[in-house]
Amino acid sequence: MEQDYNYYKKIFASTPKPFAFVDFDLLDENIERIVTAAAQKNIRIATKSIRSVFILNYILKKHAQFQGVMCFTANESMYLVNEGIEDILIGYPIWDSEAVAQICQLNQQGKRITLMVDSVEHVHHLNKMAEAFNVTLPLCLDIDMSMDVTGLHFGVWRSPIRSVADLKEVVEKIIESSSVCLVGVMGYEAQIAGVGDHYPKQMAKNTMVTFLKKQSIKQLAEKRAATIQMIENYGISLQFVNGGGTGSLHTTTSEDVVTEVTVGSGFFSPGLFDNYRDFHYKPAAGFAIEIVRKPDTHIFTCTGGGYIASGAVGNDKLPKPYLPEDAQLLSLEGAGEVQTPIVYRGTEKLMLGDPIFLRHAKAGELCERFNHLYCVSKGEIVNKVTTYRGDGQCFL
Ligand SMILES: Cc1ncc(COP(=O)(O)O)c(C=O)c1O
Repeated sequence: MEQDYNYYKKIFASTPKPFAFVDFDLLDENIERIVTAAAQKNIRIATKSIRSVFILNYILKKHAQFQGVMCFTANESMYLVNEGIEDILIGYPIWDSEAVAQICQLNQQGKRITLMVDSVEHVHHLNKMAEAFNVTLPLCLDIDMSMDVTGLHFGVWRSPIRSVADLKEVVEKIIESSSVCLVGVMGYEAQIAGVGDHYPKQMAKNTMVTFLKKQSIKQLAEKRAATIQMIENYGISLQFVNGGGTGSLHTTTSEDVVTEVTVGSGFFSPGLFDNYRDFHYKPAAGFAIEIVRKPDTHIFTCTGGGYIASGAVGNDKLPKPYLPEDAQLLSLEGAGEVQTPIVYRGTEKLMLGDPIFLRHAKAGELCERFNHLYCVSKGEIVNKVTTYRGDGQCFL
């Protein structure tokens, strides 16, 4: 079975465009490969890269290695608890007192929502709130995993915990606070997991990134091991040590101290994930726009399509024309707010009303544009499920 232009065109012959879809045959392949790549470590699903409760549950039930989720906001954690999802780690610090209060109540009722901290201020604030609710809040420490080389910060600016001294201060604050407890440590090596090293026509950049990644992988593994050792020296027994993302599975899993890896993007494998040397997952999610004009022989202008990904602005944040093969965006127009011209010189006879299939640069952001995902398997639409947006949810 070849998932080519005519395969999807036939499946969606009577589906109004634009629409988004997930190919479950390809999703299943990705799930299998991710489970294998995780090499016996538990896998925590990054919800931001899925944003559909149906699909989160689908993946969670596929294999015993899937254990819990990493979500991105307090409101999302409450929504997921309501939807029956268990073992939730909020991957980023939260502050809003109303939200913290609600999470205290949920933990009081036996739900499991772990909060992220990286400073004495976070611990103090959460402890004060937890005391008021007479509950012990589980905390996870976020450790910075970036690498500084002269003039370059290779990594992201998130946690200020960069040294053992920084760590000591926060761990001791947690120990002396009566209503919080340290259950986990997370270190996200964004410079390995989230930076492609195999961009077409960018040899120099690829070589530099590959070199830096190699240095960084060694350094961060040593740092993570030292961090865990130091925490254990306080007599703390951690329930989990979380690391990585889709793009670092092959290296994060080789660290003995890591008990679980976070994976999100690999399931849909969006455009940006074509640019890694060490792995390739299948393009399991996409969207279709409709050709409504033909301003020149090889130009097919479609309605919509301007779904640009977040992050540093660059061409790689544009959606990627996927099928028919060799369809391209125009550099001067890109993907537009209401119209997107596509250049195509291939053999398909494209007509008004035909679809052009594209892939978003990032995984979950696609779901912020559509209420539903059509689920495809073995040549037909087998289901139509809601995204967060389709459930009326908008967290960020
Ligand atoms: C804390 C954290 N862990 C893991 C990931 C990796 O997720 P993905 O597999 O979608 O790249 C991210 C992505 O930004 C993240 O912020």
